[in-house]
Amino acid sequence: MEEKLFRTTCSTDLCFAIFISFALIWIFLCFDYSTFPSSDNGVLIASSVFSTDKLPLQNPCSGRYLFIHNIPSRFNLDLIRDCQSLTRGTDKSDMCPYFQNSGLGPEIEDSRGVFFNSSLFKTNQFLLEVIFHNRIKQYECLTNDSAMASGIYVPFYAGLDISRYLWNPNISARDSSARDFVRLISEKPEWKRMFGRDHFFVAGRISWDFRRKTDEVSGWGSILRFLPESHNMTMLSIEASSWRNDFAIPYPTYFHPSKRSEVVEWQNLMRARRRPHLFTLIGAPRPGLRDSIRDTVIKQCRDSSLCKFMDCSSNGVNCDDPITTMKAFQSSIFCLQPPGDSYTRRSIFDSILGGCIPVFFNPGTAYSQYLWHFPENQTAYSVYIPVRDARIWSGSIEGILKGISKERESAMREEVIRMIPRIVYADPRSSSWDFEDAFDLAIKGILERVEDVRRKIKEGRDPGEGFDDPRDSKYTFSIK
Ligand SMILES: *[C@@H]1O[C@H](CO)[C@@H](O)[C@H](O)[C@H]1NC(C)=O
Ligand SMILES: *[C@@H]1O[C@H](CO)[C@@H](O)[C@H](O)[C@H]1NC(C)=O
Ligand SMILES: *[C@@H]1O[C@H](CO)[C@@H](O)[C@H](O)[C@H]1NC(C)=O
Ligand SMILES: *[C@@H]1O[C@H](CO)[C@@H](O)[C@H](O)[C@H]1NC(C)=O
Ligand SMILES: *[C@@H]1O[C@H](CO)[C@@H](O)[C@H](O)[C@H]1NC(C)=O
Repeated sequence: MEEKLFRTTCSTDLCFAIFISFALIWIFLCFDYSTFPSSDNGVLIASSVFSTDKLPLQNPCSGRYLFIHNIPSRFNLDLIRDCQSLTRGTDKSDMCPYFQNSGLGPEIEDSRGVFFNSSLFKTNQFLLEVIFHNRIKQYECLTNDSAMASGIYVPFYAGLDISRYLWNPNISARDSSARDFVRLISEKPEWKRMFGRDHFFVAGRISWDFRRKTDEVSGWGSILRFLPESHNMTMLSIEASSWRNDFAIPYPTYFHPSKRSEVVEWQNLMRARRRPHLFTLIGAPRPGLRDSIRDTVIKQCRDSSLCKFMDCSSNGVNCDDPITTMKAFQSSIFCLQPPGDSYTRRSIFDSILGGCIPVFFNPGTAYSQYLWHFPENQTAYSVYIPVRDARIWSGSIEGILKGISKERESAMREEVIRMIPRIVYADPRSSSWDFEDAFDLAIKGILERVEDVRRKIKEGRDPGEGFDDPRDSKYTFSIK
């Protein structure tokens, strides 16, 4: 209609004037965008900054609406209330303090000046579910009308839930809330629309904890992700499996800024750090895993005068202390990330936060995992030393790292520092974030994924495709 009006009523001069105005608006928008320091720091402004008054004709939420499912509190809030019953694994220490500050944990008092007075918290990785939930409650495009939503978030704290039963030999007790959960969710009216393919939930544990394949007592984890309803739902977790309905998103770090300026300040501090160690490894040997890459890498670090090894298994070294570990990452040029009990490690993200260039030994540690958050070009930000068989591997880590030129090193470090905003979760208590963080990228990823499935269904293709066919996987590593 607008077009018709335009054609019939405007004179050549008026058309020209309108054309020029549109061109100016367009130039203004582009210029405006490029003048943000994004090109210097990799800090992209959040899409919400493009408010309606700049683009009056377009609803900035269209195609981005999310609906939060209302599920019984035993799947989420009761777990927080009963935090005494949760454990961090074999370690029986109290989880309750980590629930403070909307799941960020206790604020860090920094007497040693490592953190420069920023928004730092003693964050526990398992609390990602709570942080994500609190953050999504502030998402700018929520709707109460599920029919309007592009994606449906289910606030099931799957990791906290299973943490109570992982060591329980009674298999049916271990699986009971997984079964209750999928029954409940698939009986809701929202399920019918796409049979759950627009549903997603978040887990602060590795995918392996939800993929028990046998009913033997020795099998690890719950059966959650192998239940039929679960095939149709996407899980975002700190480590994905090779099934295509699992997606990896960053482990939470200690830094939870609410403003772009805080991120930029942090990035500048990381650029200026003096880094006396060529490389660092923080971890514990795994005497149970014979001939593991980790032990080989630890041995090389111990034997090198250029490597700083922080042995988390020895008395007196507290690898849970953010100040101790962050200080080590901030004093090193390269940080070794050998796989341990699983492919990924939280330390990947803490070291990136410290401006330390990661060194990977297995593609499953990062390259095939954080597809929505890490740069596609792996050589730009990391060093890859493939070790297929630790027993026969004879490479020298020190030799390889010493061979990297200073120019290449600075370019890689700059790329790592530019990744910082993309891997941190902004403070969920704020509501006026002005940069794109790990949460925003996860939401973008899930919306694109659901859109893709929706398109396939429309085209009459098998919607199963892209969900549970491991043969068609883009992952290059295999399941243990
Ligand atoms: C740290 O932050 C507090 C409160 O914002 C401020 O009063 C103090 O001066 C800051 N300290 C430093 C060293 O920047
Ligand atoms: C959804 O409904 C609740 C309760 O009626 C209300 O508090 C909330 O603001 C609504 N949210 C949106 C996005 O409309
Ligand atoms: C295992 O757990 C189930 C359900 O929680 C319970 O009904 C059953 O009695 C338990 N079995 C044993 C052997 O403890
Ligand atoms: C999963 O999706 C497929 C295809 O859309 C559908 O046939 C199947 O019934 C769904 N599974 C469940 C448990 O709803
Ligand atoms: C990846 O990054 C490296 C190092 O910065 C560069 O030499 C190479 O050309 C890049 N590759 C691609 C495909 O962009």
